[in-house]
Amino acid sequence: MAEACPYPFPRPSALGIPERIAGIHSEPLVPVVLPSGDQAVLLTRYQDVRRVLTDDRLSRNLNRPGAARISRHNSMFQDPRINPDPPEHTRVRNLVARAFTAVRVQRLEPQIHAVVKELLDAMESSGGPVDLNEALAFPLPVRVICSLLGVPDEDVALFRRWTSAFLSVSHFPPEEIRAAMAEMSSYMAEHISHRREHPGDDLVSAMIRARDEDGRLSEYELQWWCRLLLLVGYETTATQLGGGVAMLLSHPEQLRRLREEPTLLPNAIEELLRWKIVGSSVSMLRYATDDIELDGYTIRKGTSVIPGADCANQDPEQFSDPESFDITRSENSHLTFSLGPHFCIGASLARAELRIATEALLKRFPTLRLTVPADELKRVEGALLEGFTEIPVTW
Ligand code: HEM
Repeated sequence: MAEACPYPFPRPSALGIPERIAGIHSEPLVPVVLPSGDQAVLLTRYQDVRRVLTDDRLSRNLNRPGAARISRHNSMFQDPRINPDPPEHTRVRNLVARAFTAVRVQRLEPQIHAVVKELLDAMESSGGPVDLNEALAFPLPVRVICSLLGVPDEDVALFRRWTSAFLSVSHFPPEEIRAAMAEMSSYMAEHISHRREHPGDDLVSAMIRARDEDGRLSEYELQWWCRLLLLVGYETTATQLGGGVAMLLSHPEQLRRLREEPTLLPNAIEELLRWKIVGSSVSMLRYATDDIELDGYTIRKGTSVIPGADCANQDPEQFSDPESFDITRSENSHLTFSLGPHFCIGASLARAELRIATEALLKRFPTLRLTVPADELKRVEGALLEGFTEIPVTW
């Protein structure tokens, strides 16, 4: 096997696909070094990535000796109180999924429209230029998650402060991150106990009610899932939304086509998702609990494995002309939301936010444009989530 190279791979520009990905599919398993310095192998081919994501010999539980770590800080998947593997994970996840219904997402749509309108009104009256991150991409998902969890509007600012401490584009010292985590955990504990006394129509109340033959979610599981929803549902959506708009603005032909034919919007959203603007697949790290035979090679027991959705989305065996960004692409079963037992629970919510916000923004600002050349946009360096430092636009 070739020498291990650092992963996530460097990008030629903030919106460009890493050069290392072109042609990587000739090697099904690529040795990589993670930001922690630990080694893993990256799975590159679409069909292999699909297969392993539904194989229960590839564990999400990284809390075991010999498993690689993504970073030196503990990840949520190293919490010994939570088993992120089936069958325990499946039981708990089903309880959450039961509360996180399609109907609940549909009921959120009018609210997403209202928040988008309010944010675009403020953007318009500012006269521009604005940073699209601050004007729309970040405030929208945090407002939506707070509303989903039943957090009152006046506390949304607290959530933005906590999430920017441990997630967002600015860097904070570790003690500030720990303090933000602790403050948020105690807020959540209080919120959950308040909802026990005064149930509402929100997801937390529904999660408290959800039960199966083995009982309800424990207090700790409830808190863990609330934190997870916020952590994984916020910056992902913000980065995909802001970066997606920047991608459209920097492809004028595609943008013109979309403006002329607005019914292409759902297709365009899927193509932007295939582009995996949110970043690499490092957070999908797994551990092989047994030998796994794939097409002509074996993943050995004890190997740390990254199912490379970023590579799979660019596999020419699956996508014709994968390196071209094409909003008319009709067959587009990308793996950006993963697959199998950990398939993104918020995928339909994320799609609704992306669709509603992108449509309203393009309609409201027919002359929207970046104020800097697209290749001058910057990603946050050294962070696990590859957000954009800013996305300056005017109209
Ligand atoms: C564009 C936006 C988003 C992207 C690209 C994204 C991507 C992902 C991916 C790749 C996974 C699975 C990771 C794995 O297999 O290891 C995942 C899991 C998850 N996502 Fe999302 N996500 C997005 C938005 C959201 C939103 C809005 C929510 C909820 C508010 C959410 C909630 C979750 C949860 C709870 C999980 C864990 C599921 C489990 O482990 O069973 N995500 N997401």
